[in-house]
Amino acid sequence: MKIFIDTADVGQIKEAWSWGIIDGVTTNPSHIAKTGRKPLEVYKEICKIVDGPISLETISLNAKEIVKEGRALAKLHKNVVVKVPILKEGLKAVKQLSSEGIKTNVTVTFSPLQALLAAKCGATYISPFVGRLDAVGHIGMDVVRQIKTIYTNYGYKTQILTAAVRHPLHVLEAGLIGSDVCTMSYDVLEQLYNHPLTDLGVEIFLKDWAKTQQQA
Ligand code: E4P
Repeated sequence: MKIFIDTADVGQIKEAWSWGIIDGVTTNPSHIAKTGRKPLEVYKEICKIVDGPISLETISLNAKEIVKEGRALAKLHKNVVVKVPILKEGLKAVKQLSSEGIKTNVTVTFSPLQALLAAKCGATYISPFVGRLDAVGHIGMDVVRQIKTIYTNYGYKTQILTAAVRHPLHVLEAGLIGSDVCTMSYDVLEQLYNHPLTDLGVEIFLKDWAKTQQQA
């Protein structure tokens, strides 16, 4: 499973990229707003750090404008993936952008039927927001499972990008279901490394190694 970092914090991206486990980046307007910086400046920096798919989101609401924005974003770097919200106009734009060979990530998705429509328009990625579904009493990962079944049934090439991930169990389930990608915050990434038995195991090894140094 590919792992993307979901942030626009360049410091976090640089650090996570150095770990060697990151395949790409997803950003959104809220992440950009948190940085307090100009979007274009942030986008260019991310493209210099990460050699992998980098999703940059459009904000227009009609197809013509989304296509225009998408083309401009795609020109920034070969790794740019144009992120488009799953509105009717958004999908019209995705169809056009796909026909021009521009990669797309259809976002703010909450149902398997929306995902079916995105695949029909040639989306490169579909992003179901699992944590936001959990928050309103629906099981977010069920949607990922259903999308996987539909895409497998019909051989759609659109990659499932599990998003709005809140904890390591979401990541585990995404892997078990066969999600192509899982995007997550820096904090969730760090949590993936941790296991109390690993800490304990290393502590025991170090103590035992110290004993060997006392032996004649
Ligand atoms: C994914 O591409 C989105 O940027 C992200 O996961 C949105 O989720 P959140 O704002 O609910 O965390």
